[in-house]
Amino acid sequence: MKSLIQQLAAKYQDDCVAIRHHLHAHPELSFEEHETSRFIQEKLKEWGISFQVMAGTGVVGWIEGTDPLSRITALRADMDALPIQEENDVEYRSLKPGVMHACGHDVHTTCLLGAARILQETRDQWRGSVKLIFQPGEEKNPGGASIMIREGVLDNPAPQRIFGMHVHPLLPSGTFSFRGGKVMASADEIYITVKVKGGHAAAPHLSADSILIASQIVLSLQQIVSRNNNPLNPTVLSITSIQGGNTTNVIPSEVKMMGTLRAMDETWRFKAHQLIKDQVETIAAALGGKAEVHIDIGYPFVLNNEDLTEWAKRKAAALMGEEKVEETELRMGAEDFAFYSHRIPACFFRLGVGTESINSNVHTPTFNIDEQAIQHGVAMMAWLAIAED
Ligand code: NI
Repeated sequence: MKSLIQQLAAKYQDDCVAIRHHLHAHPELSFEEHETSRFIQEKLKEWGISFQVMAGTGVVGWIEGTDPLSRITALRADMDALPIQEENDVEYRSLKPGVMHACGHDVHTTCLLGAARILQETRDQWRGSVKLIFQPGEEKNPGGASIMIREGVLDNPAPQRIFGMHVHPLLPSGTFSFRGGKVMASADEIYITVKVKGGHAAAPHLSADSILIASQIVLSLQQIVSRNNNPLNPTVLSITSIQGGNTTNVIPSEVKMMGTLRAMDETWRFKAHQLIKDQVETIAAALGGKAEVHIDIGYPFVLNNEDLTEWAKRKAAALMGEEKVEETELRMGAEDFAFYSHRIPACFFRLGVGTESINSNVHTPTFNIDEQAIQHGVAMMAWLAIAED
């Protein structure tokens, strides 16, 4: 099976590159992936794969091998692009001003389509069934994954395990990296508004000082991470915006701040939210003002099932050779694959797409991939769905 999958991935490489070019040239923002969704549906139809539409633009395909209910595997790809102006000078560059596939979700969709084609073609030669999850809105709260789950993507029939793959330009092309346990962080958005009466800068005794309160809040919030958190528990809190005032002689009546909290423990995460609220309100009150905190709850941390990930790593080495498989490091970035990973055994792994000259990171205007990596991504997705112990 292994060599058949590799042969077919090589055979369909040019088709897959063409698919990627099409998707790359026609990027769509989160939850607006209408053309992308239609394109995926057409491809599945062309290859005789049944599917249903979910969560607006999501597409869920279904392929049965022999003994279809003996093992059900879900494979997931995200479809959305980012509000970034592409700077790559390639013939397939984005045709949409200000929108770009700068996180490689075009590649994820391509690889899942390629894997689907191979799995469909070989379906009398493997056991179980495969749910193909093309999901919208990875880049935007509340995350397409959470909506797909709410609409039943993990039910009827329920997959027993799920795999997700993400491109990584800082990893050599064609290399895969895995890690069991916690791999990526939860992410919540923090919005703070400080309110005071406001007044003349020369008469600070007549109004609380919103700028001073905001400054104290920034410093104090850092101590939640350094003093309230267990040092062994990865957490980062960054205040990323302070806006207030526009001249030298006025104490502004309002200062707005924004930031992000990243963590890897659900109990601590929500305790930290409470600490943030308490500290912000207490500091503002102590200094004679008021402050409001709004926390927009994002994705939980990504949890890779240890056994499944160990298994996948072994199978990846069998497909690609030991030298093409690495251990990946912990990251404080977030990924809505997390929602699946808290529901069923999951493995989220990375596909290296970088070379010496192709090395711009994701979310940059010059992000790109070595397209040779596509056939390996295609083969890996198909292989993990059907490899036997
Ligand atoms: Ni991404």
